[in-house]
Amino acid sequence: MPALVLLGAQWGDEGKGKATDLLGGSVDYVVRYQGGNNAGHTVVVGDQKYALHLLPSGILSPGCTPVIGNGVVVDPSVLFSELNGLNERGVDTSKLLISGNAHIITPYNVTVDKVTERFLGKRKIGTTGRGIGPTYADKINRVGIRVQDLYDESILTQKVEAALDVKNQILTKLYNRRAIAIDQVVEELLAYADKLAPYVADTVLVLNQALEQDKVVLFEGGQGTLLDIDHGTYPFVTSSNPTAGGACTGAGVGPTKISRVIGILKAYTTRVGSGPFPTELFDKDGEALRRIGGERGVTTGRDRRCGWFDAVIARYATRVNGLTDFFLTKLDVLTGWEEIPVCVAYEIDGRRVEELPYSQSDFHHAKPVYETLPGWSEDITKAKSFSDLPKNAQNYVKALEEMSGAQISAIGVGPGRDETIEINSFL
Ligand code: GDP
Ligand code: IMO
Ligand code: MG
Repeated sequence: MPALVLLGAQWGDEGKGKATDLLGGSVDYVVRYQGGNNAGHTVVVGDQKYALHLLPSGILSPGCTPVIGNGVVVDPSVLFSELNGLNERGVDTSKLLISGNAHIITPYNVTVDKVTERFLGKRKIGTTGRGIGPTYADKINRVGIRVQDLYDESILTQKVEAALDVKNQILTKLYNRRAIAIDQVVEELLAYADKLAPYVADTVLVLNQALEQDKVVLFEGGQGTLLDIDHGTYPFVTSSNPTAGGACTGAGVGPTKISRVIGILKAYTTRVGSGPFPTELFDKDGEALRRIGGERGVTTGRDRRCGWFDAVIARYATRVNGLTDFFLTKLDVLTGWEEIPVCVAYEIDGRRVEELPYSQSDFHHAKPVYETLPGWSEDITKAKSFSDLPKNAQNYVKALEEMSGAQISAIGVGPGRDETIEINSFL
């Protein structure tokens, strides 16, 4: 059985954690391939709620090996606090594997993230402040620190020196901050080496051997398609590739191994941080979606911006990821609206546009063109099959499927594992 990718089809927070956890019981490996602890994935198992940031959501399934791939950026302090938190709750985390090629989020990367955002003022990205962008910038600039560097003090010192050489100039002369001491950083990083050692592995080899042995590997994306550094709403994006191709580079698995790409799609839209969002609502409907959907960031606690479903974005996600399926989440949140508007196209400077414009200025001007679908008032949280849904909810799902360009294979009707309608099996 080959590999599957599960990723966000919008601006993140679509319910990837729940979807991954649902499949976790039937897969052998769950792999994070990009991002870091900017992610906040909520998993509800019975009466227990878990918020995972860096660890793959498969960590909650005992038979599954969780893997942090080479494309992920790892903050060791966050890693250990997350592991400790899970251990205290009785979760066995001993199977975790971490790529020796993954880059480390150093304390100075976190500092640089915060000061640059402050410096940008009104033009800020609204990052999570976790050092994600600066760590990927160091990686691309070839001055990054990798997990394997912790096992060679001399190399580590040279690399920290190289990284801080320019940064200290910028911090002191441009941002008016104190210089960061090289020794202190090296000491702090070395302190993690022994604790980290049992988890460090050649994850590329492990995953490819697993696939040769017909094991099931699930790649869990962080963030979402529209936050992708190449395909998202640049510059209001994250600094990695959450889109499907990122799974290949971020885990070292070839595209020929991937047979299924599942887009997690919220039945409406949310976004955290700055950037364009055509269907955003500033009225009581937006408030109601936020309240009923519990739309508050798991990582930063910021209120999420809320709006109606945007089919232009869903179609775009189908295209750039080669989606085979959608997992539609939070349909239950829409219960109670008499009518539900769905954005089917944009109007840009008087023209009707059916597909996502590639020009940033056009997207900033895009006004949603809505079609209104009839709503439903019946409680759907107990629905187990598609036919249990009220007719109007069925029609809403069918309309979204038609507009979005891939089959909807599962529907979330509540946060719990079992609050899911499975239509087509993923495995
Ligand atoms: P992720 O970052 O994509 O994993 O998503 P988040 O965890 O940040 O946000 C999704 C939120 O919706 C979490 O609080 C989930 O528990 C919750 N959730 C997921 N699926 C459903 C669903 O079908 N219905 C409802 N009501 N909540 C859901
Ligand atoms: P999950 O995995 C929603 C957003 C931030 C900001 C932008 C860049 O839970 O879906 P960064 O710190 O990554 O440099 O911030 O990306 N962002 C997310 N928004 N869900 C996430 O993760 C996000 N991770 C980053 O709000 O706008
Ligand atoms: Mg989230």
